Amino acid sequence: MKVTSLLATTAVAFAISLPAAAAPDADAAVKLTKESGCTKCHSVDKDKKGPAYQKVAAKYKGKADGEAKLTEMVTKSPKIKMSDGSEEEHKAVSAKDPAQVKNLVQWILAQ
Ligand code: HEC
Repeated sequence: MKVTSLLATTAVAFAISLPAAAAPDADAAVKLTKESGCTKCHSVDKDKKGPAYQKVAAKYKGKADGEAKLTEMVTKSPKIKMSDGSEEEHKAVSAKDPAQVKNLVQWILAQ
């Protein structure tokens, strides 16, 4: 009897801990922004040449196409306007693994 209830408790605790495992991996995301040179123009909470990730997250909050838009921005190098008005191709992430890109995009949207 005791063993059964212990097992049940463990199962419940495990179920509760699952959603946390599905959250974006912040360490991996930050590492990728450093490797890709994104930090030159972006930070989490301050505008640099590019908007702060918190602003980007606020802009796309509740919008279903946010993930697709950001994925395009960080993989397809679209032309963008810099704050000084000049045009440049936006930098793409160095990772080729779609799972890594997805993790990064989800992390940005979670700021
Ligand atoms: C040379 C500077 C520069 C670098 C390097 C750069 N960005 Fe940007 N980024 C910008 C600017 C400027 C904008 C704003 C473009 C606009 O609003 O049209 C922007 C916009 C964005 C957006 C918001 C898109 C939106 O629709 O609001 C995201 C997300 C983003 N960058 C992520 C990244 C990531 C990830 C990297 C690294 C792979 C990166 N950026 C590298 C300058 C840069």
